[in-house]
Amino acid sequence: MVNSKMASLFSAARSMPMVAPSILSADFGILADECKAVMDQGADLLHLDVMDGHFVPNLSMGPSLCSAVRNHLPSTFLDVHMMVTNPGAFIVPFAKAGANNFTVHVECDEDPIELANAIHEAGMTAGLAIKPETDFGLMEPLVESFDLLLVMSVHPGFSGQAFIPEVLETTKRLDGMIGPNQHIQMDGGVDPETGLLCREAGCDVLVSASAIFKQPDYGRTIELIRGS
Ligand code: DX5
Ligand code: ZN
Repeated sequence: MVNSKMASLFSAARSMPMVAPSILSADFGILADECKAVMDQGADLLHLDVMDGHFVPNLSMGPSLCSAVRNHLPSTFLDVHMMVTNPGAFIVPFAKAGANNFTVHVECDEDPIELANAIHEAGMTAGLAIKPETDFGLMEPLVESFDLLLVMSVHPGFSGQAFIPEVLETTKRLDGMIGPNQHIQMDGGVDPETGLLCREAGCDVLVSASAIFKQPDYGRTIELIRGS
C-alpha cells in the first residue's frame, strides 16, 4: 500500500533538498539492512540504478530486487533510474514491484513522450535523464511532460566517479524552465562539497552512492549533502 506522502514526493511542490542514496554502493549481502539504515538516518528516498549491459557497460538490478526492497521497506519512496536501451518493456514490471518513480534516458531507443504517458498510466511519476555529453536541445522540448529531470554528472554505468562540473549549466537552465511541481535531480559524484554546488544550481534531489555508503557515518553525510 502506497501512502500519499510517498506517492507525491516527485509531483508535490519543490521545497527542501531531498537526499536519495543510490543502493548501487550498498553492501548487497545485507541490502535490506543497508536500505533501512540510510532511511533511519535521514534519507528521503532510495535510488535504484538499473543497467542492461547495452546502454551502459555494466549490469545491476531488475524488478525482483526492487520487489525485495519494497517488501522490506513498505513505506519508502523507490526511485528507479533506467540506464537501458528499451525501458518501455519494464514499466509495468517495476510498477508491480513497488517502484514510485521511473526515469528513462533521453538517449534511449524509444519515444520519451510515449514512455512518460505509459509511466503515468502505471501509477508512477516520470523522470527524464540526460548524459553529460548529450545536447540539451534533445531534452528541452520534453521537459514539460516529466515530473523529474535528471542531470547526470558522471558517465552512467558505475558509482565512484568524479563529478563533472560543466553539467551545472544544464541544471541552471532547467531551473529557469520548470514549474513549481517539477524537480531537478543530480546523479554522480555528489558529496557534501559538490552537493552544495548542485543545490546552488537549482537541484532539489541529490543522488549519492559512494559518498554515503563507503564511509561509516551515513547520517552525517546525508545531513551534509542536504546542507542542514
Ligand atoms: C551511475 C548511477 C549513479 C551512481 C552514483 O551510473 O546512475 O546513481 O550510483 O554513484 P556515486 O554517487 O558514487 O557517483
Ligand atoms: Zn542513478
